[in-house]
Amino acid sequence: MGAMLSSLFVIVFFAGLVVAAEVGSGEGGGSGGESGENPVKKELPEPDRDGTFALEKALDERRSRRSFSGEPLSLSQAGQLLWAAQGISDERRGYRTAPSAGATFPLDVYLVAGDVDELAPAIYKYEPSEHAVTPVVPGDQRSDLRTAALGQDSVGAAPAAIVITGTYARTTQRYGERGEMYTHMEAGHAGQNIYLQATALGLGTVAIGAFVDDSVSSLLRLSGDEKPLYIYPVGHQ
Ligand SMILES: Cc1cc2nc3c(=O)[nH]c(=O)nc-3n(C[C@H](O)[C@H](O)[C@H](O)COP(=O)(O)O)c2cc1C
Repeated sequence: MGAMLSSLFVIVFFAGLVVAAEVGSGEGGGSGGESGENPVKKELPEPDRDGTFALEKALDERRSRRSFSGEPLSLSQAGQLLWAAQGISDERRGYRTAPSAGATFPLDVYLVAGDVDELAPAIYKYEPSEHAVTPVVPGDQRSDLRTAALGQDSVGAAPAAIVITGTYARTTQRYGERGEMYTHMEAGHAGQNIYLQATALGLGTVAIGAFVDDSVSSLLRLSGDEKPLYIYPVGHQ
């Protein structure tokens, strides 16, 4: 009962927050993507590992942004954000940009692309080892993602959204029940990386935690114990 009430509180709180938030523009544009083409696996441009935007400046300027200009995301911007979330930073061991409990790597990252240059609108799964995206659901799915996120405008208005999922078993088989908590902690690390990378690229994003789990799961065709943990709409200001 307590858990139900607190879930209700979260939903009501964020629904209120959304009404108060600035209303985004340019939903469902599709001008920058290869609209009409079938989505295909795509290698992403090599990520920038040597940017000049100061970390302290990114920390200082990081803010949740809920409205977007309507300008498409470039493929290299999308790739850079995915790399920041879960990219490989140690090729030999396969270690990633975010820490992982016992290097069990329970997280996966998806790109819900609506208006991304050189990418047909679709939901793609990020493949860290190849720094590539593989299509999982064709078509522009932003409107359904927005509905699943309780109608939050920021989700529909951004040219793309990154969804972080967690597969608990990868971590619980080593750490027992505690692995669930570790998975949630890791989503926070990956999410903060997205915030800071977006800031360094001059883009905006917001952590979205208020959504209907089952709706996001069915939209992304998640199976087993893979659960959606976060949505990050990203775009130009
Ligand atoms: C776990 C979590 C869930 C959140 N869920 C939402 C959400 O569903 N919708 C939203 O607009 N903002 C959401 N936010 C963003 C917060 O509202 C935001 O971080 C807060 O207002 C502070 O603003 P700042 O990020 O600019 O510092 C969430 C943040 C966190 C950490």
